[in-house]
Amino acid sequence: MLANIRSEFLLDPDTHYLNHGSFGACPREVFEDYQNWQRILEKNPIDYYTRQLKGLFGKEASGPLEKARTDLAQFVNADAEGMIFTPNVTVALNAIANSIELNANDEVLTTDHEYGTILATWARKCLQNDAVLTEMKVDLPVATKAEFVDYFWKHVTPRTKVILMSHITSATALVLPVREICRRARKAGIITVIDGAHAVGQIDLDVEGINADFYTSNCHKWMLTPKGTAFLHVHATQREAFEPLVISWAEINQPSFSLRHEMWGTRDMAAFLSIPAAIKFRKKHEWETRNFEAQKLLHDYRDRFSDTFGRKTICDHTWLAQIASVLLPEKIKAGDLWRYLWEEYRIEAMITGWRDEIILRLSFNAYNTRDELDLLLSAIQKFIHK
Ligand SMILES: Cc1ncc(COP(=O)(O)O)c(C=O)c1O
Repeated sequence: MLANIRSEFLLDPDTHYLNHGSFGACPREVFEDYQNWQRILEKNPIDYYTRQLKGLFGKEASGPLEKARTDLAQFVNADAEGMIFTPNVTVALNAIANSIELNANDEVLTTDHEYGTILATWARKCLQNDAVLTEMKVDLPVATKAEFVDYFWKHVTPRTKVILMSHITSATALVLPVREICRRARKAGIITVIDGAHAVGQIDLDVEGINADFYTSNCHKWMLTPKGTAFLHVHATQREAFEPLVISWAEINQPSFSLRHEMWGTRDMAAFLSIPAAIKFRKKHEWETRNFEAQKLLHDYRDRFSDTFGRKTICDHTWLAQIASVLLPEKIKAGDLWRYLWEEYRIEAMITGWRDEIILRLSFNAYNTRDELDLLLSAIQKFIHK
């Protein structure tokens, strides 16, 4: 077991931070690199935008922004040419919805495990075009991944134009078999949109292998970058038709594909420029091993939490990565428990809802300790027996 790494993070030492999944956490070293880029900008904004970043307002694709792009592309096994930097996956998914043409009666097929704002984006898109958003029900516990794929595929109809799916679901924390879904969809000529908000840095991401038409992920969650760093990868076959979300100088200058979709007037790109520092930090601290150790422990604790609450587990371990959801006893009020954990124990933990269930979503990262999970379990037991 590697030594704990809490002191490398800026997190308040008086807080038990057991909710990495919501907004991530950035190590000191990476955050300093980010601030350094901001200082370089303020030292001479003209130099920064016109010479140092070069490509940002011109046709040239070189300089630190392109280094960040190629490093990230290598990290997730994608071609850099199709990688667009976006502030978060919400923006990326809005850009996709803005670009895809839907006609009356076309169907967007998704599941009832998707993130609320993403469903809202696509519900509006469908409403504007008299298309239909179908939220397919996936009951818990889930069976095998092969059964999931077969079950999902039974809901595909000749009207299905788009499949929208999380790689790792938010409330239920399930790693969905997106590679096989995308493989079938490509054969069937259905556009695939994968919301990988939680994926990069939590699992070994292979964008090319998944082969979705659109794949987006937040680096600021599990990859340990500063907030406001996400990417959208657009498949080569979709690039020519892809509409810009924001019209800017790119309309006139016609730079590379990525820059065309990133030029939103004056933007602070510092957070993206610190992506190489995050990759370096992860290497230096053997993050893959740390992820593996954290995941093993989390899976054991997930089972212990479920046993203690007398609730069935929602999936076997093959569906889990570094977040895991536990059904809480039915009588629990989510808001009351969330406040209790914070006010009595300074524990940050995610308590959320899905259908009629109240869910505790466990996150465990290398800066957490086993004692913190024990404390969380005993705190919830105390709350239940209050
Ligand atoms: C599955 C999923 N999609 C989308 C989002 C939205 O992410 P952001 O607010 O960074 O755009 C989240 C946030 O946690 C999420 O879990």
